[in-house]
Amino acid sequence: MPILDIHQVSLNFGGLKALQDVNLKIEEGTTHALIGPNGAGKSTLLNVLTGMLEPNDGSVMFDGKPLLDVQPHDINQLGIAKVFQTPAIFPEMSVLENVTIPVFAARDGSFRMNMFEGEGRQRPLVEFAEEQIAELGLKDKMHVRADSLSRGDKRRLEMAICLAHKPRLLLLDEPTAGMARHETEQTIELLQGMKGITKVIVEHDMNVVFSLAEKISVLAQGQIIAEGSPEEIKGHPKVIEAYLGEAQV
Ligand SMILES: Nc1ncnc2c1ncn2[C@@H]1O[C@H](COP(=O)(O)OP(=O)(O)OP(=O)(O)O)[C@@H](O)[C@H]1O
Ligand SMILES: [Mg+2]
Repeated sequence: MPILDIHQVSLNFGGLKALQDVNLKIEEGTTHALIGPNGAGKSTLLNVLTGMLEPNDGSVMFDGKPLLDVQPHDINQLGIAKVFQTPAIFPEMSVLENVTIPVFAARDGSFRMNMFEGEGRQRPLVEFAEEQIAELGLKDKMHVRADSLSRGDKRRLEMAICLAHKPRLLLLDEPTAGMARHETEQTIELLQGMKGITKVIVEHDMNVVFSLAEKISVLAQGQIIAEGSPEEIKGHPKVIEAYLGEAQV
């Protein structure tokens, strides 16, 4: 059973058919890339999955349960997290504080500092936050203010925040956009290291796509026009056609 099953999803912005009868199955534990020309509907599809947009038609099952009735703030709790293009971090807080907040929220449903709670009960959660930070290579910067981090480190922090939610499905919309080459390489390594988390990645950089994805779906004008392994997609005539006038695949 796929962890995510998108069935016949259509979404219109007024007269514009942004998504048309989209069917997409994502297998648990895989990295699945969603590619396609500008305006194809990739971000729109991710926004449907986070509850930010409501489709006009179709259904989405996550882990065998309908997703579209779930409120956006509950979707995170279900185990779906999205990495935003601009890091969603608290600039004035330390790296550790930024990661501790979602760890507590994952346990309590929301973040409440409980002054009466013994340190014994809080300690394992803080340790879990510290582990996430160490895993992403930010151990030395644990107590540094978030806004003093480099862009690459901010991205790592954002990933650590995402992992603190213990997501089962991670949605990434152009995670390497605007990055220098070495930052892109670091991000690829980072994502390769996140084993066991299902990932859906929207990306224009084909080097990133071919380094990470086990399966690729191609969206053009709101429709899935091709699907397959990286090898199958590379030479696919429909894909080359969709990208004509853009970067060659
Ligand atoms: N909120 C909105 N209101 C109206 N039209 C929108 C809205 N969001 C997106 N669109 C339109 O829907 C279409 C799909 O947009 P979307 O952002 O999903 O494309 P995309 O594949 O993510 O493109 P890109 O690669 O440039 O990020 C585009 O024609 C876009 O202009
Ligand atoms: Mg987009």
